Amino acid sequence: MDLIVVNANLYTVSDIKRPKTKDEMIDLHFIENGGFAVKNGVIKDVGKTDEIMKKYFNEACEIIDAKNRAVLPGFVDPHTHAVFLGTRQNEFKMRLEGKTYMEILNAGGGILSTVKKIRQASVDELALSLLERIELFFEWGTTTFEAKSGYGLDFENEIKMLKAIKQVNDAGKAQIIPTFIGAHAVPVEFKNSKEKYIDIIINEMIPYVAENSLAEFIDVFCEEGVYTQKETQRILQAGIENGLKAKMHADEIKAIGCSELADVLDITSCDHLLKITDKGLEAMKNGNSIATLLPGTAFSLKESFAPARKIIDFGIPTAVATDCNPGSSYTESMPMIITLAVLMMDMMPEEAVTSATINAAYAIDKAQTLGSLDVGKQADFVILKDESYLFIPYHYGVNPIWQTYKKGKKVFDASSTDN
Ligand code: NIG
Ligand code: FE
Repeated sequence: MDLIVVNANLYTVSDIKRPKTKDEMIDLHFIENGGFAVKNGVIKDVGKTDEIMKKYFNEACEIIDAKNRAVLPGFVDPHTHAVFLGTRQNEFKMRLEGKTYMEILNAGGGILSTVKKIRQASVDELALSLLERIELFFEWGTTTFEAKSGYGLDFENEIKMLKAIKQVNDAGKAQIIPTFIGAHAVPVEFKNSKEKYIDIIINEMIPYVAENSLAEFIDVFCEEGVYTQKETQRILQAGIENGLKAKMHADEIKAIGCSELADVLDITSCDHLLKITDKGLEAMKNGNSIATLLPGTAFSLKESFAPARKIIDFGIPTAVATDCNPGSSYTESMPMIITLAVLMMDMMPEEAVTSATINAAYAIDKAQTLGSLDVGKQADFVILKDESYLFIPYHYGVNPIWQTYKKGKKVFDASSTDN
């Protein structure tokens, strides 16, 4: 063995080989005084500390004493726009003064302000800024995250964003799941000819992205004034035909029938859902789609939150994510998202932890290797400063993470910073 973790209040969040729903989300599979053994970045054994000690103590391996702190799977953040340059604090102030997110976007700001910055940058510059942001994700316990294109809005710049993600992944430190979202806004050049831009997405961008394995998912911002339900269907369909898996920004600001597509197409997750209708709920359940909820966005936009209770009680599995982006939700912190999920969306803390780990892994189709501390999975885990996950929403606003490990390697240690 390379490593054993002992004396842990261990929550394995054990995988049941499908996304968890309803009561399944409550059981975090607690092992009191638990431990596990890791080799080559993979979990080889899980059990009680004394068993793990007995089996592996004589092997020359590193021993991590968790000192009865809570140990959880590393957080999986299944929806971010973490590749960006520049910030939009002026628009944040405009929103506080009463302008809406869509008014700012329609006046050429919002997503389109970030597009201007991205178009001026090189792949290397984007990769460097992403590498810096990764340190923050690790600091707050995230060991894997999804990241989207969508600030290029033309062939060259959408591809550039995805190449930056690939460059960072190839460097080996982080694991970022790439999503192509050329349909994130309508570029100014095509303001009056959206159809032409959609043709470019379908005929040029999607085939190139798929052929060069630059993304695993395709996503569309399905929203009034952005992409209609019909347009979304066409774009996602084209992505699926090219071998990409589908996601959707759905029912965020207005319900225009987006999540209802979950019944028509194979959509891994519908995200946001602040305004989801009963029809949308039915379609998602029939289509086995995961509801990825982004309470940071509702919080920062001062909107009412997605009806998480109703969604869970309806039997739809939920995941939670930061939506990390410079406009509607500027945070890298999954503990903050868990806090909002619990205190503002009425999730139970266990449901929120399940949503931030195993169900989040399903939302990016990575549950075979991520999201729980089961034998055979990647040794991605966090050790909290406290004895229980309850401290995440309870002692809110401060970082609960003591150490973060990715594939058995320490990537953050609070005791070596000023925390
Ligand atoms: O998920 N809604 C569209 N996209 C992002 C916001 C991106 C931005 O404002 O830069 C979201 O909220
Ligand atoms: Fe988003």
